Amino acid sequence: MSQQSSPSSIRFDGQVVVVTGAGRGLGRSHALAFAERGARVVVNDLGGNLHGGQSDEASPAEAVVAEIVAAGGDAIASGASVDTEEGAAAIIDTAIATYGRVDVVINNAGILRDTSFAKLTTADWDAVVSVHLRGSALVTRAAWPHLRAQRYGRIVNTTSAAGLYGNFGQTNYGAAKMGLVGLTLSLAQEGAKYGIGCNVIAPVARSRMTETILPPAVLERLEPELVTPLVAYLASASCEASGQVFAVGGGYVSRVAVFEGRGVRFDGEIRPEDIESQLGAISDLSEGREFSSAMAAISEALK
Ligand SMILES: NC(=O)c1ccc[n+]([C@@H]2O[C@H](COP(=O)([O-])OP(=O)(O)OC[C@H]3O[C@@H](n4cnc5c(N)ncnc54)[C@H](O)[C@@H]3O)[C@@H](O)[C@H]2O)c1
Repeated sequence: MSQQSSPSSIRFDGQVVVVTGAGRGLGRSHALAFAERGARVVVNDLGGNLHGGQSDEASPAEAVVAEIVAAGGDAIASGASVDTEEGAAAIIDTAIATYGRVDVVINNAGILRDTSFAKLTTADWDAVVSVHLRGSALVTRAAWPHLRAQRYGRIVNTTSAAGLYGNFGQTNYGAAKMGLVGLTLSLAQEGAKYGIGCNVIAPVARSRMTETILPPAVLERLEPELVTPLVAYLASASCEASGQVFAVGGGYVSRVAVFEGRGVRFDGEIRPEDIESQLGAISDLSEGREFSSAMAAISEALK
């Protein structure tokens, strides 16, 4: 598709953007782009390995800050973990103490502990749900009073096709990632009257998460920089969308939504056999609708 010319360029001058898990992969790409467009950036990364354990790499957050500063930008590193109350508070405190404000939170930090459900340990479940879901909630909650008080904020969460559609060996990750959709939708409703927008992306990109899973020819097309422009748009003041889900990667961007069919209305008693006989109509999504809230969906169903 041809590029459309933009009416105004999207900038973040005067704004402070927090990007979690920004030491490498997608988060690094996001942090560099925000800095290039005028934001002061908190580059958070605890520098762990893919599975959430210790890494022998020197602080990747510091390395990204050095890249930003070398390019003439302004950034500060935070090595705190997103998944503890203290860590989440420390990440937002770094923004407030250094730059005096926070405008945008990009919840991107993540780990993998892939295994079949039969072999899933409680530790594998807890670690993955904790970083992705609890971490995103804790960091957002630490920023929330600041965003509410200034009546402006943008939050971009990171889900995955594994959450939206399911993936073998990723019950922990898929559950955490779909949890992020739920977090996003309710935050969008609670934030609306305070000028806080919240959306969620399902990216696909080349990173250590995908480099051993996808074939080299596919990986070649999946630069993280092809995901970042959507994140920057969703984080901008120009973005009026909130409570939305987008799939993005390899040059593709698309909105994703939950649809509910017209359904079947039964009068009086319903037997399991009635469900069986009506399953075709119950499952028919050809006139599917999207609802803006749980209340809208429930009141339609009870009409
Ligand atoms: N790469 C993809 O195709 C893809 C697909 C779907 C979703 N995602 C999601 O995108 C996000 C970024 O993934 P990526 O591919 O860039 O992976 P990545 O491993 O390159 O980056 C994730 C970063 O998060 C950091 N991190 C992990 N735990 C942390 C914690 N507790 N506190 C702070 N930082 C922590 C890691 O150190 C790492 O630098 C993740 O949420 C991932 O689940 C990626």
